[in-house]
This record gives sequence, structure tokens and C-alpha cells, in this order.
Amino acid sequence: MTHPDVLRPMEARLRKVRKAPSPATIRVCINEYQEDGSDSCGPRGGKEMRALLEKGIEERNIDIQFRALECLGLCQRGPSVMLDPGNSFFLNAQPEDVPEILDHVEKFVAEVKALRGE
Ligand code: FES
Repeated sequence: MTHPDVLRPMEARLRKVRKAPSPATIRVCINEYQEDGSDSCGPRGGKEMRALLEKGIEERNIDIQFRALECLGLCQRGPSVMLDPGNSFFLNAQPEDVPEILDHVEKFVAEVKALRGE
């Protein structure tokens, strides 16, 4: 699994964070089909990642919006999971990575809330 680039310049992150209606969003690609026949996240486990992450977020009661999308633009490196604000990615995310992803998401949401003064 590729770790997200969460160390983006703080100023850029702060600008986005202050405008966002909610603390953070996690997006998971569940795309099953590419018109050109190339790889997509769905057959590689995107839908399983969606289910596991949704379950984990609910179990841990993490304050984050969850979105399942059909392509995040990094198709060859999927299943792709994106964390916003900051547009950081977990790439080639596998079921065994879910606890680590959720740990990171919890810390990320706490950081965003702190930046928002919540
Ligand atoms: S198909 Fe998943 S990022 Fe494009």
C-alpha cells in the first residue's frame, strides 16, 4: 500500500479546511469498467474496500463523509482511496490495510477538526 502524502504545505490545507462544510471526506473507487479495457479498481477489490471501510468508519464512529466513486484518476494503481482535504491517496489498498487506513483517517479527522477549531 502506498501511504498518503499528508504532509502538504499547511497553508494550502488550512485554506481548504476552513471552507469545507464537514471535517473530511474519504472517497473509494468502485469502478468496474473502463471503456478502453484497461484496469479499474472494482475488479481489484474496490467494492470490498468500500464495504470494509464503511463498516470500519461506522464501528469506530469516525466523523467523515464517505463517497464511493467511479474513478479517481489513478486506475493502474488501484484500488484507490482518497482522503480530502489535501487529496492524499492510499493506492493499491488491500483488505489487510484497512485497520491502518482507519487509524490514519481517525488521526487525520482529529487534525482537521483541530485546524477548524472544533
Ligand atoms: S478506476 Fe479506480 S481510480 Fe480509475
